[in-house]
Amino acid sequence: MPTWRGIIEEYREFLPVTDKTPIVTFGEGNTPLIFAKNLSKETECEVYLKFEGANPTGSFKDRGMCMAITKTVEKGFKAVICASTGNTSASAAAYAARAGLDCIVIIPKGKIALGKLSQAIMHGAKVFEVDGNFDQALELVVKMGEKYPIDIVNSINPFRIEGQKTGAFEIVNQLNGRVPDYHFIPVGNAGNITAYWKGYKEYKDKGKIKSLPKMMGFQAAGSAPIVLGHPIEKPETIATAIRIGNPASWKQAEAARDESCGTIDMVTDDEILESYRYLPSKEGIFCEPASAASVAGLKKTFKAGKLKKGSLVICILTGHGLKDPDCAINQGAKTYKVPCKVEAIVKELGY
Ligand code: F0G
Repeated sequence: MPTWRGIIEEYREFLPVTDKTPIVTFGEGNTPLIFAKNLSKETECEVYLKFEGANPTGSFKDRGMCMAITKTVEKGFKAVICASTGNTSASAAAYAARAGLDCIVIIPKGKIALGKLSQAIMHGAKVFEVDGNFDQALELVVKMGEKYPIDIVNSINPFRIEGQKTGAFEIVNQLNGRVPDYHFIPVGNAGNITAYWKGYKEYKDKGKIKSLPKMMGFQAAGSAPIVLGHPIEKPETIATAIRIGNPASWKQAEAARDESCGTIDMVTDDEILESYRYLPSKEGIFCEPASAASVAGLKKTFKAGKLKKGSLVICILTGHGLKDPDCAINQGAKTYKVPCKVEAIVKELGY
């Protein structure tokens, strides 16, 4: 028996399962909580990065998908469907393959990072690219779910939130019971901020912790409906994972913000890309562009003088950098094309 048994076995008492529930797992969760030395120095805080890219399909979605697909099997469905900006589809396709379910994926045409698309395809999902954005794809999925016996595994499925809340438990456990002062997180469809807040609150209700973090959600400036207070018809951002104009969990995200005395703010694509390059080069951790929004948010908050010195800070890095190789290559770093000779290398190095 592996020492880490996946989120359902590890957090069974907090999750809607019985002894008969047929668990579908890849041993997700238990992702590294990494002290960020340079970022801590820069922001005068104690900063940790929760690297959710270390989950089995490379994003935080595996926590929620483990729970959702487990319940799909328990409910007796034979097929699942999701709209996705990429990661949900990759995770759904993998868990569906493991459970022997059909998987239908609806994605906005041309706006999915290659790593994510290749995952959905290789796991055997039927992938439909539609002329429309994520919000329209999700509307279509809801219609399909109403009409056909297909289980929707987007975060409007409450079991997704249940699975994802385990991230909060893990952070507290990895900090030996300490509670972050600030929890920075990217916001797209707003399921994850909802889930983390639920997790922290449940740990408090159970007496495992005494305080709660401020929830600090960050949207991309071109896709910031919650910040601007209205849906965005044509959301745009380099961070395609959070290119969402009408988040399904809008109200819950606002509740997390207000109850925790936190904020939901936005960061520009330039700010996102600065952190996207900073993390792999200065901290050694490669995340995808949307994930860097949490760190960009931390830097913005620090610069605005709104961060209490010495605070314990968590930034969620939601997905692995390998998900979006195009974005990485487009950052302009060059390779050196040289003959296969020592002298040629040494010359470039200036030795
Ligand atoms: N970061 C990444 C890497 C994501 O893939 C997503 C959402 C988010 C952040 C935002 O999380 O939606 O819970 O607020 N991706 C979804 C998808 C929409 O289809 O993969 P959220």
